[in-house]
Amino acid sequence: MTVIGVISMKGGVGKTSTTANLAFAMAAQLGRDQVTVIDLDPQNGLHWHFGVDSENARGLCEQSLKRLDWADASLPSEYGVNCIPYGRVAEQDREAFELLLANESNWVRDQIQGAGISRNGVVLIDTPPGPSIYLKQVFACADLVLIVLLADAGSYATIPAMESWLAEMSITYPSSRSIYVINQVDRNDSLNRDVAELLQQHLGKRLAPTQLHRDEAVAEALAMQQPVLVYDPHGQASHDLRQLAGWAISTLKR
Ligand SMILES: Nc1ncnc2c1ncn2[C@@H]1O[C@H](COP(=O)(O)OP(=O)(O)OP(=O)(O)O)[C@@H](O)[C@H]1O
Ligand SMILES: [Mg+2]
Repeated sequence: MTVIGVISMKGGVGKTSTTANLAFAMAAQLGRDQVTVIDLDPQNGLHWHFGVDSENARGLCEQSLKRLDWADASLPSEYGVNCIPYGRVAEQDREAFELLLANESNWVRDQIQGAGISRNGVVLIDTPPGPSIYLKQVFACADLVLIVLLADAGSYATIPAMESWLAEMSITYPSSRSIYVINQVDRNDSLNRDVAELLQQHLGKRLAPTQLHRDEAVAEALAMQQPVLVYDPHGQASHDLRQLAGWAISTLKR
């Protein structure tokens, strides 16, 4: 089993959309039930991308507090990707769960291992923005960490903070590998184009070989509660995500 964490310093850069759509693109290449997405963000929004109704479902937060398996919180979707939602929880439960995570540094890793995921399966974990106890849990179990950023001044300004966070993480978790992915690249926007080039120079090989272009189909697909590869299979976003999935699969095999 391999684990991919999706993180960012800034909010709203496209972590959840990328997690969901990359998961579907990987499932299209690896087969049904080979990919599981885990929503480690209290916003609990990941399941919407797969049209999975989690209203009455137990999420990983509640399961954890009751010391029950995450496997029982895994929901199948019609798209062949299984989803473990965070769940809708009261504020005090979120706080109790975060305390549990602070005290048990391998909680997420242990839960994933007991979640009945196949030996060749892939797990993608969505996270809230910025450093948090959730991110530490991701570093403790991820084979690959994807850092999503936009080609704008705001994301560029967060790179030093992200780099020092990564340096700290690499002391505790030397085997975790992190790669930046630029999202919402727009060749028709001159500032966006310039910042994308600057990021390319600055990050070099630390950037994934595929950039994700801005494509309105990403937001439209979410409104339809579908992966973008189903909603608009021949569009730019679908093309990019297929490439990123192929790269991720071959990188994880090595
Ligand atoms: N490649 C893209 N092209 C166009 N719109 C995009 C793209 N990627 C994401 N978006 C849009 O950007 C917005 C934010 O995306 P998303 O919710 O995935 O970000 P996030 O990083 O998960 O946010 P948060 O930090 O709140 O968890 C959404 O409206 C989404 O549809
Ligand atoms: Mg999100």
